[in-house]
Amino acid sequence: MTAPLPGLDDVGRFRGAIARQLGLHLDESKHAFLAEVLQRRADAHTASTKVYLDHIDRFDRGDPHRARDEVRALAQELTIGETYFFRHHEQFQAFADVALPARVAARAADRTLRLLSAGCASGEEAYTLAIVVRERHPGADWRIAIRAADVNAAALERAAGARFSAWSLRETPPETQRRWFASEGREFVLDPSLRGLVTFDERNLADAGSDLWPPDFYDVIFCRNVMMYFTADEAQALVGRLTAALAPGGFLFLGHAETLRGLSNAFHLCHSHDTFYYQRKDEVPGRDAVRAGESPPAVATEARAPLTAPSPDLGWFHAVSDATSRIKALVDRPPAAHAGAARTPPRGSPTAAGTALELLKRERFSEALSLLDDEAADHAADADALLLRAVLLTHGGQLADAEAACARLLAIDELSAGAHYVLAQCRDAAGDRKAAREHDQAAVYLDPTFAMPRLHLGLMARRLGDRETAQRELEQAERLLSREEAARLLLFGGGFTRDSLIALCRAERMAAGGKT
Ligand SMILES: C[S@@+](CC[C@H](N)C(=O)[O-])C[C@H]1O[C@@H](n2cnc3c(N)ncnc32)[C@H](O)[C@@H]1O
Repeated sequence: MTAPLPGLDDVGRFRGAIARQLGLHLDESKHAFLAEVLQRRADAHTASTKVYLDHIDRFDRGDPHRARDEVRALAQELTIGETYFFRHHEQFQAFADVALPARVAARAADRTLRLLSAGCASGEEAYTLAIVVRERHPGADWRIAIRAADVNAAALERAAGARFSAWSLRETPPETQRRWFASEGREFVLDPSLRGLVTFDERNLADAGSDLWPPDFYDVIFCRNVMMYFTADEAQALVGRLTAALAPGGFLFLGHAETLRGLSNAFHLCHSHDTFYYQRKDEVPGRDAVRAGESPPAVATEARAPLTAPSPDLGWFHAVSDATSRIKALVDRPPAAHAGAARTPPRGSPTAAGTALELLKRERFSEALSLLDDEAADHAADADALLLRAVLLTHGGQLADAEAACARLLAIDELSAGAHYVLAQCRDAAGDRKAAREHDQAAVYLDPTFAMPRLHLGLMARRLGDRETAQRELEQAERLLSREEAARLLLFGGGFTRDSLIALCRAERMAAGGKT
């Protein structure tokens, strides 16, 4: 008879230990898988699951050597190593055309470039960087050091071997394959001159004490498709380490579904080659704390100084909706704070923004705006009030002022999806479709759950006769609208109800040739 698999409590403890040791977030849906892994690891130690869990709990209190061996074994079981050369090739184009020339110029004096592939898996990302650097080589007398790190030892062994399958090269242009690979049987062997540019190290990105993080060191870091598997706390801590290790002006590339929104305000958002990436600001807020390996300070965004405490179980993906929660909190305040919403509250009242929102709901835009104007000094540095003001100004057709409010908001929070959406509308109204599209795309990238920029992109595409884009964006908008938060619909929905916006999406999608 086979022993029953570990129960809920043990798997819960195991999940906590994995988060602490590797940073990985494995949710309830992985229960059966985790129970199997726990049983396997306990068996490997010829221990009961309880004894094994006590053993790994002691890692938190020292014993680094034994910890390293077990963490290594867990990494083999739990990490996902999917990767290939030129994955999301547009990011490598941005690297080649923007990041590399900028860093070559910045490093002209010491003629050294330092790159990091953090979570490199079997090496394809680091070697792609080597190919691009070699093809755009700044000069033979430059020192190029590409460091690549992963916690999975087996993946690193494959990386060091530098032999790849055709599948790994599926996005590699044929001329690049011919230039940098020799085929041997069914394998493709990387040119030894490129192998020499890359150093692979077994390192745990969740380890703040690792030698991976010298301050102000790297010119460019690729850390793609790693953070998405991390817990919110570990993702935030990792971003702190990446920030501190990047040189001022250095570039950070994340996976295309990953954003720094809600995680850092130490970066400028860059958008080129149809992709987003980040450039470290010269001055990093809370830099000393970051240097010391602590979590970076909370971002100066909607997540800052919340009116309501953020829910502790919010994943970092969901931190992006904090602004909405705060605005919702304003609306949901007890009636006493709202009663007679049309009444002007006393100057300096903390409910002014809430009252303005209530006036927005009643389409009394100019009253709402003058209320915020009265409070202008207090709101100068308040991201929520600036966003509300920008929305009200667009309603009143004061588009230049709305853009100015958005610019002030972006100076506080460069990763505000709401500000980008309002700017998209203003630019569209000014006939600047290119900028409108870029702002909508930024809003969509920063907050993939935000329906309105998708709707706007769809409507613009339809106007231009781009039926395919119109159908795609309107379909996404319709899907997102059905789940869009009421407070965000109120703020950005232009006075329309959820149902009427969904009906609009559907009608426009049909008109663009879409199916029911
Ligand atoms: C999906 S792969 C991404 C590979 C490559 N960056 C890309 O985007 O193509 C994720 C990698 O992150 C690594 N990883 C996960 N947690 C890690 C940790 N705590 N420390 C170092 N590497 C980790 C995994 O072992 C895996 O190789």
